[in-house]
Amino acid sequence: MRTHHCNELQDSHVGQTVTLIGWVNSARDHGGVIFIDLRDREGLTQCVFRPEECAETAKLSHTLRDEDVVQVSGKVARRLEGAANAKMATGAIEIVASDLKIVNKSDVLPFQLDKELSNEDLRMKYRYLDLRRARMSKNIRQRSKITSAARRFLDDSGFYEIETPILSNPTPEGARDFLVPSRLNPGKFYALPQAPQQYKQLLMVAGVEKYFQIARCFRDEDLRADRQPEFTQIDMEASFVGQEDIISLVQGLLGSMFNAGLGIDLPKEFPRMTYAEAMDIYGSDKPDTRFEMKIADLAEVFAGTEFKIFRSILEGGGVVRAINAKGFATITTGQMNRLNEIAVQAGLPVKNLAFIKFENGEYKSPLWKIFSETEKEAVTNAMNLEEGDIVFFAAGSRESVSTILGRVRSECAVMQELNKGSDKFNFLWVVDFPLLAQDEESGAWVAVHHPFTRPHADDMEKLEAGDFANVRAEAYDVVLNGYELGGGSIRIHEKDLQAKMFEALGVTPEEQQIKFAHILDAFRFGAPPHGGLALGLDRIAMLVSGEESIREVIAFPKNNKGADLMAQSPCEIGMKELREAYVQSTYKKKTEEAPK
Ligand code: AMO
Repeated sequence: MRTHHCNELQDSHVGQTVTLIGWVNSARDHGGVIFIDLRDREGLTQCVFRPEECAETAKLSHTLRDEDVVQVSGKVARRLEGAANAKMATGAIEIVASDLKIVNKSDVLPFQLDKELSNEDLRMKYRYLDLRRARMSKNIRQRSKITSAARRFLDDSGFYEIETPILSNPTPEGARDFLVPSRLNPGKFYALPQAPQQYKQLLMVAGVEKYFQIARCFRDEDLRADRQPEFTQIDMEASFVGQEDIISLVQGLLGSMFNAGLGIDLPKEFPRMTYAEAMDIYGSDKPDTRFEMKIADLAEVFAGTEFKIFRSILEGGGVVRAINAKGFATITTGQMNRLNEIAVQAGLPVKNLAFIKFENGEYKSPLWKIFSETEKEAVTNAMNLEEGDIVFFAAGSRESVSTILGRVRSECAVMQELNKGSDKFNFLWVVDFPLLAQDEESGAWVAVHHPFTRPHADDMEKLEAGDFANVRAEAYDVVLNGYELGGGSIRIHEKDLQAKMFEALGVTPEEQQIKFAHILDAFRFGAPPHGGLALGLDRIAMLVSGEESIREVIAFPKNNKGADLMAQSPCEIGMKELREAYVQSTYKKKTEEAPK
């Protein structure tokens, strides 16, 4: 239906007769002569309808409205002196139309496509129109490019692309499962995979050696800007490898994806940090290292302090730490309230964060009176406290202080807009994660990554001895600008070690047989040592596109309540269908009879 696309025609095409097809991006009437910008996926071309060229076509052009689908034929002409548009790829030329076919008319649009729209619900309801907008079209193109680059890279590296089941069993990745009733097996359910973890390990037992999948994963968890209930992983697994092999594979893979998406070269090696360091220095296992604001330990400063609260915490084995938000003494009361709220949510036992501001040559702080002269000087030096700065303190257990200051650090960065500037890409490996963590409420030990993660070779004795808090895992996360892009580990491949891990997690031998017999069985038959990692494709696409939410890089995302406003999903299911699936709904709508 076309000879060229709408971003193609240049000065060199002048004089050629061409046919274009696309949407009317805009139509303008200049004293009876109609100009339109014709748009297709690739870009825009100006078409002009002059009565002297073809009276009938010119007449028809007066009926054109935004988003009509039209086919235009005519001659490529150089634009008049002064009318060229350097901002447009085809800005040197225009089509002098001799023929116009209105292929399909558009109704009046629910919103204008050339303006940013803050009403996200409206965008989602008409997502197919939203996706026509230049920004979204670019995001979709970039996502496609990085996805193909990933496929090419992994194919070139000898990885087989293999699909694993979507109708499957519950997978222990830490979220709730989405369940699907089985009509053929009354009373039984499939669970949608939170990740293809067990299948990819079974593929290693099957001798595949190198697997990957652009895998759709499903997790029923609270949604955020970087979390969707269904999302996509680039999932990988390889046999006969160690941590270094996976790290170097993923560095190469991300390098190829960023090159395809943005034309930039990433460093061959990303910096590394242990989990313990990341928590101590940044109070986060996915630190944004684009800005400093590091957590400093003040145990030495307050070693002999008279200030009772700090003293009793230090004597009790706790810590006193602080961060300096440079140049943020200008903080407003509203911002301060917000920081206090965040700190309390993160576990601060009092209502307000302790702080010292140094403004106009004066120290302002509820603490300043309490500190001795030596302490004042030592704090000033330790925190490099200068004019315009504000230092926030937290005291308590090491973990809670890290969490509190980590959240305050991130929020200060948002308030100071230190997290802006999408052209800086600070990759980081966080390694040596703990294997297990204790659930605060129940006290039970849970897997930090998942139960198939290998304990660190140097910490096996601690695992044997039940010293769970100090067992590290052979697990690693790749982080970019404060986002966890991917996580992985070397796995357990021995049946007995796997059973021991389940035991540590409180999974009884009976439960192990019910839930994990397949994997424990498989490990009896010569399972190779193996490991892998999964990258969050949506998050990578988001950062490549300079967006702040993965909804901007997913064609049909869900909103914060897990709903698709366009398709009206999830939807109610009739009694007949429920009965066929042997499902009885306990949810009662006032107007509906209870299910029989
Ligand atoms: P993990 O749970 O860390 O590891 O997931 C891997 C990556 O997937 C992305 N991700 C998400 N993206 C969008 N929405 C979500 N709800 C969501 N949840 C996770 C993140 C994350 O880093 N089986 C293991 C991998 C392995 O061990 O090989 C796993 O799934 O970017």
